[in-house]
Amino acid sequence: MDGNGRWAGARHLPRLAGHQAGAKAAEKIIMRAQQKNIPFLTLYAFSAENWSRPQEEIDGLMKLLAQTLTRYTRTAADRNIRLWVSGERAPLPIELLKQIDEAVNQTAGNTGLTLNLALNYGARQEITHAANAALAAGEKEFTPQILSRYLYHPDLPDPELIIRTSGEERLSNFLLWQAAYSEFYFTPTLWPDFNEKEFDNALTAYAARTRRFGNI
Ligand code: IPE
Ligand code: MG
Repeated sequence: MDGNGRWAGARHLPRLAGHQAGAKAAEKIIMRAQQKNIPFLTLYAFSAENWSRPQEEIDGLMKLLAQTLTRYTRTAADRNIRLWVSGERAPLPIELLKQIDEAVNQTAGNTGLTLNLALNYGARQEITHAANAALAAGEKEFTPQILSRYLYHPDLPDPELIIRTSGEERLSNFLLWQAAYSEFYFTPTLWPDFNEKEFDNALTAYAARTRRFGNI
């Protein structure tokens, strides 16, 4: 969900105002995904590398995440959303972790959209975590199938489509393992401006792709 800072800068607003607008855009897209019966949506909310940002921005982002989670947990039951989180817990604030655990527990039985929040997420970290977890579990060798069982969410299907906003065209340590055969959609639109229409455009573009998975 890239482009919040540039969106704010263009309006002479603080970067946090861009993140707030980005959170609103996320809510719209979540609802649209539900309308379209998309079963899994992963939002890259905070990367393992985002800790290098100014402390003020990090604090603002953590607060915004906590606020958004609170609002969401209240409505997730009605909306039948199941919340998952992918990422390392440390060094996320303890209060936020408590909230996450509550939200995950409260929504565990929901059968609608699975909203996976990539939070303090890095794909290299996830793969390394999987390898260590496999060793700790006594696995004697690695195969793609074996390693897959130790990812943050073994039941998370590989993404069919990965959308990146704001004109950037790179993965930035996002789902490296799972993205092996994903389709990509790049748009110059900044994340806060990414709306239902833009999302529909991405889905239409995806529908026109031929997925070969190495076949002809
Ligand atoms: C993405 O927007 C949001 C997060 C990383 C949380 P950016 O903050 O990266 O926005 P730009 O790239 O500066 O425009
Ligand atoms: Mg950015």
